[in-house]
Amino acid sequence: MAFDVARARRETPGTTRVAHLNNAGAALPPSSVTETVIAHLRLEAAIGGYEAAAAAAEQIEGTYDAIARLIGCRMDEIAVTENATRAWDMAFYAIPLRPGDRILTGRAEYASNVIAFLQVARRTGAVVEVVDDDEHGQLCIADLRRRLQGQGARSGEVKLIAITHVPTQGGLVNPAEEVGALAHEAGVFFLLDACQSVGQLPLDVQRIGCDFLSATGRKYLRGPRGTGFLYARSSVLDHVEPPFLDLHAATWTAPEHYEIQPGARRFESWETNYAAKIGLGVAADYALSWGLDAIEARITALAGRLRDRLRAVDGVRVHDQGRRRCGIVTFTVDGTSAREVQQRLAEARINTSVSYASSARFDLPRRGLPELVRASVHYYNTEEELDRLINALPACR
Ligand SMILES: Cc1ncc(COP(=O)(O)O)c(C=O)c1O
Repeated sequence: MAFDVARARRETPGTTRVAHLNNAGAALPPSSVTETVIAHLRLEAAIGGYEAAAAAAEQIEGTYDAIARLIGCRMDEIAVTENATRAWDMAFYAIPLRPGDRILTGRAEYASNVIAFLQVARRTGAVVEVVDDDEHGQLCIADLRRRLQGQGARSGEVKLIAITHVPTQGGLVNPAEEVGALAHEAGVFFLLDACQSVGQLPLDVQRIGCDFLSATGRKYLRGPRGTGFLYARSSVLDHVEPPFLDLHAATWTAPEHYEIQPGARRFESWETNYAAKIGLGVAADYALSWGLDAIEARITALAGRLRDRLRAVDGVRVHDQGRRRCGIVTFTVDGTSAREVQQRLAEARINTSVSYASSARFDLPRRGLPELVRASVHYYNTEEELDRLINALPACR
């Protein structure tokens, strides 16, 4: 069935103002999300913040329900956080590591995650290893398998595989399910950064086989800024400990004792932005109403067309890798910095962004790429908007 782009655009007021090709930065929200957030803020102003939260209790629970349906888990396996980084941190810093324990990651890994690896490696004596890419530029499953061999030895055991599903700096989709199968076989924690994939690809944590999955609200999910979530498989909760606890994550049961919450909400903190949290649930429901298969098909078709058209422009090089690709399209223009290209496009009301090597040091420097222009498409973008981008490029040189 054809995707109803006209309806998607009617429900997205921002599409009348800009060609928004910065969906991997923050997508344009649908009106339903914006209106829900504003309505809750108005309710807080009218009756009080605590009273508004009590009145909206059902909607708040609805957010957990929507996210659980979005990724195929139980509601009590979800923690709502203020962004993807905090969600990821809560899982990563919870994993017990000893000197010599190995953390396996990939070349696509995001800067914040790597900074956390390095900090924890310094503190604990754990070791970070970067799994090679294969000939398609995605995580090499054969190399991962090789690094897991001999698992069960008393020292140098792999404790954690932590990879990024879709990187910030390119259109590849890493083979998460194959990684999950190997992690399961080896009995190793698997933490998947799905920040760039949630909302643009169907995600099923049972099929992927991850123990933790972190995601943000504002990108392909089209939720409010300052929202994110963590999936934590219920069976791993007894083997990890949240790095921070407060009186929401745990209960102070006696002067010398506390009890941690039974579910994934142990990774949350008490105070939160309820308006944004409710808006996140509306965004998840909205994505489900379009269907994630239909969303992926529309996005990948548009992105594929954009790559073909960019390749045909003199002096433009497309840099996306991977066997399976998504809505993120990265390119350079000979003789012009990525920043300059992005600024010229912005003057023509075409939103793109720039990925710098400092966000992806295991990847971009090896490919000789200090920076890239990133045009990330969503299902509400149109062919006409792609034309506008292509036609604006000669003026960028
Ligand atoms: C792969 C990846 N992981 C994590 C993040 C961080 O997300 P947040 O800003 O919501 O913390 C980003 C942001 O661009 C990202 O691209």
